[in-house]
Order: sequence, then structure tokens, then C-alpha cells
Amino acid sequence: MRAEHPKLEAGLAALGIDVRSGTSLSELTSLGIGGTTDLLRITKHDSIPELIGLLEHHDIPYKFLGGGSNLLVGDGELPWVILQLAKPDPEIVLEGNFAHVDAAADLGRTVTFCAKHDLGGMEGLIGVPGTVGGALRMKAGAYGMQIGSYVREVKLYRAAERKIEILKGNQISFEYRHTSFGPDDMMLAVTLELPSKPFKEILQGIRICNEKRRSSQPLGQKSAGCIFKNPPGASAGRMIDELGLKGLSVGDAKVSDRHANFFVNAGQASAKDMLALISDVRGRVENAFGVKLENEVVVWNA
Ligand code: EPU
Repeated sequence: MRAEHPKLEAGLAALGIDVRSGTSLSELTSLGIGGTTDLLRITKHDSIPELIGLLEHHDIPYKFLGGGSNLLVGDGELPWVILQLAKPDPEIVLEGNFAHVDAAADLGRTVTFCAKHDLGGMEGLIGVPGTVGGALRMKAGAYGMQIGSYVREVKLYRAAERKIEILKGNQISFEYRHTSFGPDDMMLAVTLELPSKPFKEILQGIRICNEKRRSSQPLGQKSAGCIFKNPPGASAGRMIDELGLKGLSVGDAKVSDRHANFFVNAGQASAKDMLALISDVRGRVENAFGVKLENEVVVWNA
């Protein structure tokens, strides 16, 4: 999809939108899969309601992209433009035990930045790829730690109301890999309240989590993290592994040899390959265990 109408281009320029024509989503996603479209980078949160109005006026469909680390995008010319927050400077402002963080900030860098200022609690999230906004959306959690526990305030664009709102932590429900945000809401910024902890102690926690992750997950390969959510009381990875499916592939889309709930792009995998692999594995798990695995990976297919 191209944002090419002269009036639209003038409107985007007036809103300070940085347009990158013909961007390949394979470069913006950790799976390295995805077709081409125009990327619109937002430099000012306040421009979003007007931007959405402008796109709708010109019949241009759009999608919000975070860090692209939990996403499988379709192949070819994509039927929507992509909106993404540009990173502000600074991304994080500390005030006592509160960290005010822009949604575009990298989650790992946020954890280490806070750690260096003796603010802990998020050690388990250290290896979770993606942005703080993406982590909020997905209610990222690992090693018994959930970002939701520390959220005191979220600034977001509410798609249904077409306006920017601030929600208090107690107005948001955080469930496993799911939050009460609407599907088109866009996270803009968050205030976290973090416990004080000496840097050395936090670093020890970070090292332990890094080690656990390195030993069980294929970190050096292109993936979207876990493909399926864990069903209640069970592990999708263990079930897939028990069926002997590590290494199963469709084209270059492959079930990781290291962790069976990670599917990797071992070369030039297409979205079609990856979707076929997901569907094949889901079917086999359902036949063997009677459990229909739900996607954790978000699929944007045309
Ligand atoms: N297991 C196997 N074979 C495998 C993978 C796992 O037998 O191929 C076994 C492990 O040995 C372990 C159990 O399954 O006994 C659970 O495995 P693991 O500790 O790796 O946890 P998980 O349930 O597979 C979840 C999250 C991960 C998160 C880890 C650590 C989901 C879907 N996955 O994985 O999150 O990093 O716990 O907290 O909730 C993600 O969401 O993208 C993700 C990577």
C-alpha cells in the first residue's frame, strides 16, 4: 500500500511524519519475514488522532508496529501502511522509584538502564526482545516476572474513541499473554514503579536469566519467540518435543532443534511456509493430545 496522494503527502509532512516508501517488513521483524509497504514513522504522539483521520479520509488501511519481535507478516505487496513510533531522546526519565518510559524504547535496554540506577524487579524480562510498548500489549512475562506488576500508568491512543488517554495501572487487567487494551490501541508511554535494589544484585539476577534463556532457546536464530501460547497447566514446547517434531520444516521454516515452541527462519522462509508449518504442528498436537494450541505470534496476513 502506498501513501502517494499529493494531498495526503502534504498532510503527512505537516504532521512531521517520516515516510519511508517501499519498506520490507522482513527488515522490521525478528523472523525476517514479510512483504513490502510504506512505513510512516510518528515523531509526535499528539499527531496520532489527526494522522488516523487523514489516512481514513484517503481510504488507506494501517497497522501499528512495535518492535516486530512477536509478529508474522504476509508475503508480497501488503494491503496496509505501517505506523511506528520513532524513538525519542531520552527514552526513559527516572523520578525516584518511577521510570517514565516511551513505548518505543527497547525492553532490554530499559531493564539495564533502570538496573544501573539501582531499580530492579524486571530481571526476568532481560532477554525478551521488542519494545516496552510491545511488552505491555502482550503482557510479556518470563521466569515468574510480569511487566504488569510494575505498571502504574499507561498513555495510549484509544482507537475506539480516537483519542489519547491515560489509564492508571488498576484500570488495566493483565492476564497471561493478554491485556484489556483494544486490538487497535497503540501504546505510547508507561510509568513503572520499580523496587530499589543494588545494581550488583540486579546484575546477578540478569545473569541467571540470561543463562537459562541461552541454554534453552535458539537466541542466535531468526524467530518470533514462542509460536503458541501455553495451554493451562501445560507447555506447548514440551508437547511438540514429545511428538519428535524438532527439526520439522516447510521450506526454510523450521521447528527449532533447541526449543520446540520456537519456529525459526533458517534462510529465506516465506510467510506461506511458516503458516503451513504452524498449521501442521497444531494439527499434530491436536490429534495426539486433544489440545488446540492458540497462536501467541500475531499474524498479519493479507
Ligand atoms: N521443554 C521441552 N522441550 C522443548 C521445550 C521445553 O521438553 O523443546 C520443557 C522444558 O524442559 C520445561 C518445560 O518444557 O520442563 C517448559 O519449558 P520452558 O521453561 O522453556 O518454558 P516454556 O513454557 O516453553 C515460557 C514462555 C517463554 C519464556 C519461558 C521462560 C510461553 C508460550 N513461553 O516458555 O516466553 O521465555 O517460559 O519463562 O509462555 C515467548 O512468549 O515468546 C517466550 C519465549
